[in-house]
Amino acid sequence: MWVSVLTSLVFLAGALALDCNGHSELCDRKYSNVSFIGAHNSPFVGILPSDNQLEDVEDQLNQGVRFLTAQTHDKDGAIQLCHTSCALLDVGTLQDFLGTVKTWLDGNSNEVVTLLITNGDAIDINKFGDAFKAVGLDAYAYSPGDTLTIDDWPTLGTLVSSNKRVVVFMDYHADTSKVGYILDEFQYYFETPFDTTDKNFPQCDLDRPSGASADGRMYIVNHNLDVDIFGILIPDLAEAPNTNSLSSILAQSDLCINNYRKDPNVVLLDFVSIGDGIEAQDNLNGL
Ligand SMILES: *[C@@H]1O[C@H](CO)[C@@H](O)[C@H](O)[C@H]1NC(C)=O
Repeated sequence: MWVSVLTSLVFLAGALALDCNGHSELCDRKYSNVSFIGAHNSPFVGILPSDNQLEDVEDQLNQGVRFLTAQTHDKDGAIQLCHTSCALLDVGTLQDFLGTVKTWLDGNSNEVVTLLITNGDAIDINKFGDAFKAVGLDAYAYSPGDTLTIDDWPTLGTLVSSNKRVVVFMDYHADTSKVGYILDEFQYYFETPFDTTDKNFPQCDLDRPSGASADGRMYIVNHNLDVDIFGILIPDLAEAPNTNSLSSILAQSDLCINNYRKDPNVVLLDFVSIGDGIEAQDNLNGL
């Protein structure tokens, strides 16, 4: 009998052991010390020159991608997911995208997902808050209260156990006094240059916010390649197997580590379903 009680206890302990983004090792790591592979322009799915991904957002999440960027534009007062302009590519409302993320988080209770939303049209931040509320995603959104230093971030385990499993950033026009969980991207991160056409990704310079210090910031590496077609830059699908290979991602990461003495927090990829993105993520996290 005691053996069976013991067996049950061991079983119970195993079942209760927390897993964070698929790895118990990540539970004790601060959010600011975790590396994520990101899907650049995650909702722009297809094979048009204005598309950046081949598989939809739910598939990206199922694949293990936990950092999604989404570009928004104002379309007659609605927040729409459009690439550069809604005349070029319009894939629907931000609210539908947020609903997809909410549904996925409902079904995957040990996962922390980050959204980086761009707001080039300076749409009122309260409207973004309304879209989160309409699908119930605001309930999952992590709100730090005060501005965090890089060492203040909670661990993934804390985010999972408190059920604050979506972290939200916006590039421009965030205002945490109005919507506390939509954080100012460039207060917390810097980014390397984007729209490169050099498939060797030969540098890891700080591009935005220009003139800022790398110290105290997390950082995002734009490891997505464009090809120049008569002066128009489009995502280079043909090169994606090379761009998204473990060796290409780690080669640029090594340049970054050399500059900043720490691993990238985010490596953004186009066509994330091609190549070794998740293997690179595990590698960067030392798993
Ligand atoms: C996390 O911390 C370890 C140990 O200091 C460091 O080697 C690694 O680069 C850090 N990763 C990130 C993304 O900050």
